[in-house]
Amino acid sequence: MPLLFKKVKELRNHLQTLKCEKSINIGFVPTMGYLHEGHKALMKRSKLQNDVTVVSVYVNPTQFGPDEDYERYPRNLDHDMSVCDEMGVDIVFAPSDEEMYPAGSKTEVYVRDMSEILEGKFRPGHFKGVATVVVKLLNAVQPHRVYFGEKDYQQLKVIQRLVRDLLIPVEIVPVETVREPDGLAYSSRNVYLNPEERESALSIYRAFILAQELINQGERNAQALKEEIRKFILSHPHVKKIDYVEITDPDLNPKDIVESGDRILVALWVGNTRLIDNWKVE
Ligand code: PAJ
Repeated sequence: MPLLFKKVKELRNHLQTLKCEKSINIGFVPTMGYLHEGHKALMKRSKLQNDVTVVSVYVNPTQFGPDEDYERYPRNLDHDMSVCDEMGVDIVFAPSDEEMYPAGSKTEVYVRDMSEILEGKFRPGHFKGVATVVVKLLNAVQPHRVYFGEKDYQQLKVIQRLVRDLLIPVEIVPVETVREPDGLAYSSRNVYLNPEERESALSIYRAFILAQELINQGERNAQALKEEIRKFILSHPHVKKIDYVEITDPDLNPKDIVESGDRILVALWVGNTRLIDNWKVE
């Protein structure tokens, strides 16, 4: 089993000792737990590139809105420990709220503009919560490399920007989205879906394939593509609402004419479950 730390001080002492004994590289995978194949891909990459891999498991309250799923977000530290064990992770950091947000905390990290578009429009304050906790976690672990999934593409871009802006000495390694065999992106929130809803959720991946086919056939008009995607997704019974379908360049600037390397980003509700996914245009 990996070593489990719940206190920043104890984690730091341990990592400090390791660093003093010999020169080692530390890879870090921040997560909210309920670990799945997507998280495992990040761990695998970290294991390949570093001497020591640290995984954090912390459901960060500040990135959830008041009406969101913070309370019911799935949690199972025993399961997460055994996944980390199976993956050969060295250290798990699972702090309490008091540890991450000491009483009287007043400091927040906010990445202007980027935090307000796409997800930010529908989840006010979300990226402030993410940016703040990621800076805290990076300060607790002080890794050489940190791993983020492209599944949460805007999150990756926000973190890249904050690391650059705040001169944080860490290398960010993006990892491609891992999908189930039928195309559904792995997500801890997939457990909320019943079998019929899960079937409707597949429309996201299928819409990406459809859009890619249209692009391959020469359709370059973003508006037309977005409409096709919307129409296709909404034809599925349990899709309650689409929050957005957007096509952007790799830096999240909206595009009118689509080219390879652009991103198609989707957020929608299947039943009471909100899902996000994105696709890199080939
Ligand atoms: P969480 O949703 O647990 O995701 C942790 C990391 O796993 C993120 O970098 C996410 O992009 C990546 N990930 C999730 N599903 C993936 C998939 N199917 N394929 C590839 N990577 C995937 O993202 C968070 O937690 C939190 O916001 C966090 C960064 C930990 C801050 O609280």
